[in-house]
Amino acid sequence: MNRSDLTPDTLTYGPAPESAERALAWIAKRDGRFGHFIGGESEPPVEGGQTFSVLNPATGKPYAQASLGTAADVDRAVRAARKAQPSWWKIGGHARARHLYAITRHMQRNSRLFAVLESIDNGKPVRESRDIDIPLAIRHFSHHAGWAALTESEFAGRTPVGVCGQIIPWNFPLLMLAWKVAPAIATGNTVVLKPAEHTPMTALLFAETCAEAGLPPGVVNIVTGDGGTGAEIVGHADVDKIAFTGSTSVGSEIRRRTAGTKKRLTLELGGKSPFLVFDDADLDSVVEGVVDAIWFNQGQVCCAGSRILVHEGVAAKLEAKLRVRMEKLRMGDPLDKAIDMGAIVAPVQLERIERLVAQGRSEGAEVWQPSWSAPEDGWFYPPTLCTRVASADTLAQVEIFGPVVVLMTFRSHREAVALANDTRYGLAASVWTENVNLALDVAPKIKAGTVWVNCTNVFDAAAGFGGYRESGFGREGGREGLEEYLRPEWDGRGSSGQRKRLPRDPVTPDPAFDHGRIDRTAKLYVGGRQVRPDSGYSLTVPGGNGTPLGQVGRGNRKDVRNAVEAARRAQPGWADATGYNRAQILYFVAENLDARREEFVERLAVISGRRDDANREFAESVRRLFSCAAWADKWEGRVHHTPYRNVTLAMREPMGTVGVSCPRERPLLALISLVAHPLAVGNTVVALPSEDAPLVATDLYQVLDTSDVPAGTVNIVTGHHAETLPTLAEHDGVEALWHFGDAGAARMVEEASVGNLKRTWIGPARDWLDPDQGGGPEFLHQATQVKNIWVPYGA
Ligand code: NAI
Repeated sequence: MNRSDLTPDTLTYGPAPESAERALAWIAKRDGRFGHFIGGESEPPVEGGQTFSVLNPATGKPYAQASLGTAADVDRAVRAARKAQPSWWKIGGHARARHLYAITRHMQRNSRLFAVLESIDNGKPVRESRDIDIPLAIRHFSHHAGWAALTESEFAGRTPVGVCGQIIPWNFPLLMLAWKVAPAIATGNTVVLKPAEHTPMTALLFAETCAEAGLPPGVVNIVTGDGGTGAEIVGHADVDKIAFTGSTSVGSEIRRRTAGTKKRLTLELGGKSPFLVFDDADLDSVVEGVVDAIWFNQGQVCCAGSRILVHEGVAAKLEAKLRVRMEKLRMGDPLDKAIDMGAIVAPVQLERIERLVAQGRSEGAEVWQPSWSAPEDGWFYPPTLCTRVASADTLAQVEIFGPVVVLMTFRSHREAVALANDTRYGLAASVWTENVNLALDVAPKIKAGTVWVNCTNVFDAAAGFGGYRESGFGREGGREGLEEYLRPEWDGRGSSGQRKRLPRDPVTPDPAFDHGRIDRTAKLYVGGRQVRPDSGYSLTVPGGNGTPLGQVGRGNRKDVRNAVEAARRAQPGWADATGYNRAQILYFVAENLDARREEFVERLAVISGRRDDANREFAESVRRLFSCAAWADKWEGRVHHTPYRNVTLAMREPMGTVGVSCPRERPLLALISLVAHPLAVGNTVVALPSEDAPLVATDLYQVLDTSDVPAGTVNIVTGHHAETLPTLAEHDGVEALWHFGDAGAARMVEEASVGNLKRTWIGPARDWLDPDQGGGPEFLHQATQVKNIWVPYGA
């Protein structure tokens, strides 16, 4: 071809292969056989022990053998981590920062080796591993080196959770490792991490990096293996926390298995993220956005923008532009720097994609793929665009985890938001419009942990990432991510802090308050009204000296459902009220409660048998309400300084409807703490009050009625927790459940929460009179979730 023959139509990229030489030499030096990394040692594989083949997705051929971790391997790793943990915490934030920084430096030095190894192992284009995965992983360690230095000052009174079991997937092997390991060790925890069976290699290289960088033995331990090895970590009695990223089904299984064990849990699960295109969007940018959203990493991205929702006025134009762009995508050898798409990680994933697309076709979808064909060696799947798909169809609901996108249309903004939220997931979303008002109106309405405006799939260590709904709970990255690895100093894993029972003095009831009258039957409080229990039964509440104090309604599952419905109806209005407005109402509740001091103190005195103690509990209850009111307009978000031309707005949003089961002790103070904190930040509440002293709660109805608390914002269902709590825990309309009731029920609560993966908080026993234990940031943190909204700037 002559130079003069070269036109834009004939010009194509030639191959630009990256050398695999160093990566292959690294593997060959170890004879292609790898053991675990435990107690600072890269172990050789056990003679005769079970191994598994590590395959190259671009060729389908094995190139290394890794060890299949057994229960004994996991146990050794946990022991090493346990042994190292106290010293790792004691050396202090500055020393830990130096270690994290040393790891950062070593990773930087080997960054190309990491990138090439990652692409061989996972099949992703080396352009992505070189420019995105590895730099972001390094940035994570560097950012968290900083947090290590700041732990003591910024998180005073907090202490590490302990030994963390971390289980990661195969789509971003090193990056997911960094997201898990960096915050954990920065805050003084030690870890046992299991990489995915498809992609163990960069974790093993990282293990060597830790040893070379002088990380003390046992701080990071890596055990390779499959789901069975992961299950051993989850089930190990000496692991304090599990952090998991992967499928919703395995996440749910882990939730079930950790129920009632006091293990902390964070889950980062699947997604079906919407990609909203409004009619004023810049369509050429949108097309590049779609490339990033769904063809980045072959669509094997938990937050992939797999549902394009486009305004019907521009849909045809966008579809045409997309087809043109798809024709030009290049698929091939992951080590070729000029390709856009590499291979699918494993045959099982390829089959899943093929099966789901076939199912979509059979449901009536129109499936379009470019005219070129994908390479035949290895596991490849072409970029795919599906139209004629309805929101309820398989292709629009099921996470495909491949390069397959559906395109659906909407007519109005309201419909766009409704479609966006028509999913069980809530991981991410992107919004494309040139109108900043529209973007910032829509972003808060989408139920997702991350919303990108005019960009997509951008991440940074300073901004938390995590899901709403069945995409899991907890955040990774940013300040909010560190919270998951720390606990209050006074909480000795739930064993200490038990309130000592105070000696009782028989208190003679003051006849003026007439608590002995049995004919007064308090009802339930649902939707702002006092209602009779569905069961038609009531329960007698005994006093300290055996004399009945009164009767309360015996709520049942139907009453709980009615209460949840009322709370859900009230929730959007209450969340939309300003913090100032909510503060005013809480102050008003406090004032009206205070006006009835004598009556409440009398009630508490009869229950506890101590008038001085009753006075303290009452005074602290009023004070607690004032402090919640104070927080209502101060529990603010942040602006993260992410290293792009972006402001990343970390907004705190209410969980939604919060169920709370109150402890037996401190019937007024605990109820107020557990109700007023969620209320302050925009949640509505269904409360099951103290089983021993429910009359204190029923006395509150009138206080609530006279304080402008909107109907349905607070709902109180008295009765036996054994009858009401399971319904509250199972209910899909409850987004978070706080259980401070009987420890024996904790397991049931966590197991029952699996249905919608609601966030649970099993509160350890505590001294409710202590303002640090009975209220404040820990409660507000549990009552909110952070949404990061990425807003780019620059003309
Ligand atoms: P998976 O959830 O089975 O695997 C993720 C990790 O969990 C791996 O390390 C695996 O060994 C481990 N694991 C599996 N079973 C376990 C158990 N019972 N206990 C403890 N650990 C266990 O995901 P898989 O099978 O690789 O992919 C299936 C689907 O999951 C994908 O098609 C995709 O939809 C979704 N997925 C989502 C990811 C995300 O980032 N949210 C990542 C990977 C997969």
